[in-house]
Amino acid sequence: MQTDLRGRSLISDMDFSKEEVETVIDVALKLKRDRALGIGHPLLRDKVLAMLFFFSSTRTRSSFEAGMAQLGGHAAFIDHTTTQISHGDTAKEIGEIFGRYYDGIAIRQVDWGVGNAYQNAVREATRVPVLNMQCDVYHPFQILADLMTIIEKLGDPRGKTIDVSWAYASSYQKPISIPQSLILQMTRFGMNVRLTRPPEYKLMPDIVQQARDNARQFGGSFEVMDDFDAGFKDADVIYAKSWGALLTTDDDAESAKIGNQYKDWITDERRMAMAKDSAIYMHCLPADRNIEVTDAVLDGPQSVVYDEAENRLHAQKAVMALTMR
Ligand code: CP
Repeated sequence: MQTDLRGRSLISDMDFSKEEVETVIDVALKLKRDRALGIGHPLLRDKVLAMLFFFSSTRTRSSFEAGMAQLGGHAAFIDHTTTQISHGDTAKEIGEIFGRYYDGIAIRQVDWGVGNAYQNAVREATRVPVLNMQCDVYHPFQILADLMTIIEKLGDPRGKTIDVSWAYASSYQKPISIPQSLILQMTRFGMNVRLTRPPEYKLMPDIVQQARDNARQFGGSFEVMDDFDAGFKDADVIYAKSWGALLTTDDDAESAKIGNQYKDWITDERRMAMAKDSAIYMHCLPADRNIEVTDAVLDGPQSVVYDEAENRLHAQKAVMALTMR
């Protein structure tokens, strides 16, 4: 167990070693159990987290805010439109100044080609941990909650097969950060990871290569597939969600045209039946209901999406307590 995480930032999933992630999951499980028993943990009394949002959120905002309150501290919600960022406050200035007011800076900035660079620029300028509430490249806190959920539902992840699949959605070009973080983290935990997507929905080549390297190092496997149905076959975990064709085009109309070829990439009961009987269905939410996944699956017996959303709270409390104390 590696416990010395004080002052550390979490922007990429790989910022914490595998052993450090194991510590986070261990602490998260304890905090979850203790909350059920009414045992409080005011580990961050008098500490304040800045939560700077450039994009909307339901779960991330609520779970960070509730988590800070439960740890005895406070979270300040800052919508970028109510700041002077559009009038010139730079990432360096945000890092310098927020670092003097706050004990941690959490940021959601998912703009393609911008979000990750922005978070790293704040990290370089600040004296406090920077926590990535999602950027254009990674969504590490979602994936910590996902890993915790897999361990709770299926036990040791080693040797289990997860299908990280693209699915059709019509709402908007969703970031590629979820599948990228999933293939990075799950290959470090010995899972057999399938990345299933149409050819236009590639992920960043260096991330895919890192996933391959992780699989080699940690004893799982990693394969890229382009057959939606084949991804379901005998899988233990189905994690099928939409993302944008961002490496193919940044034009929304062109992207919609590409996506329309794959409208049948919807998770339904027929496809879930191809996975193991014990398989779980996961989705970070929000989902395009009856477009990306049917109600019958999302609300069905194999779906663990609400436990998964709950685990955001516990995993984030663990990271905040370990890094901001
Ligand atoms: N899964 C997730 O990050 O949800 P929000 O966009 O609602 O925060």
